[in-house]
Amino acid sequence: MSIKDFSLEGKHIVIVGASSGLGRAAAIACAESGAAVSICARREDKLKDVVKTLSGNNHGYAVVDVKDVSSINVGFDCFVDERGPISGMIFAAGISTVRPLSVIDEKSYDETMSINLKGALFCSKAALKNTRSIKNGSSIIFFSSISSYNTVGKGRILYSTSKAGVNGLMRALALDISSMKHRSNALLIGSIKTDIWDVDMVTEEQSAKYLSGSLIGEGEPDDVANACIYLLSDASKWVTGTALLIDGGYTLTE
Ligand SMILES: NC(=O)c1ccc[n+]([C@@H]2O[C@H](COP(=O)([O-])OP(=O)(O)OC[C@H]3O[C@@H](n4cnc5c(N)ncnc54)[C@H](OP(=O)(O)O)[C@@H]3O)[C@@H](O)[C@H]2O)c1
Repeated sequence: MSIKDFSLEGKHIVIVGASSGLGRAAAIACAESGAAVSICARREDKLKDVVKTLSGNNHGYAVVDVKDVSSINVGFDCFVDERGPISGMIFAAGISTVRPLSVIDEKSYDETMSINLKGALFCSKAALKNTRSIKNGSSIIFFSSISSYNTVGKGRILYSTSKAGVNGLMRALALDISSMKHRSNALLIGSIKTDIWDVDMVTEEQSAKYLSGSLIGEGEPDDVANACIYLLSDASKWVTGTALLIDGGYTLTE
């Protein structure tokens, strides 16, 4: 074992949904670990601010709306032109829709699925387009949730369904891309305070309950970023098809 195996030196990492929260923390950690970092999301002002905070200098951003496949393809082409073939991608884009069944309609279903699930699929496809777009032995990470298999509160039907789909995508993709030694893994993340908590229909009292419900204390964005460094680095070169639980023990029961 060498600590160098955990380095991202010489790698080009794309992070989708890095304008805030967990994706932003992952971008900062990847740059600190030596990677060239390409980030995207919809809010250009936030993306510019994140790029300014990254250590090193071979970084950049593109404005991408993952609901729109052509926007994804333009963004990824631009990243490959600017920084060369991709070594790893984190799909961190997501929205948290909290609605009881009676209020779910086609619009809210389409909105949640097109960002959380369709976005994850078509960003993977854009990254894995051809041998010019991606290096052999790349690593794809999906930000999933404990909500994909555990009930963490009422009103999560759309969110849970989308994240369960992401888990399925991660496993099926891991099999399909294994011949080129590409890897696909997911993080099953527990509650961490970010902008995603500023949603309708979750009271401050409920948020506080979820955020403080982990057995070993509150989680921080860096707890997720550290796992990303491992999964993007050569230290995890034999790890694929895994859903890694990062929830501070929230889902443990006595
Ligand atoms: N924090 C938690 O408790 C928690 C728990 C489990 C899983 N997760 C997952 O972790 C991921 C990151 O969430 P977060 O907590 O960091 O929340 P966040 O701060 O709200 O970040 C969400 C990111 O997704 C991007 N995004 C949303 N819609 C997009 C679209 N249509 N196109 C492109 N980018 C889009 C946002 O950027 P723009 O608005 O600029 O587009 C932002 O960068 C999500 O997938 C979430 O489900 C979070």
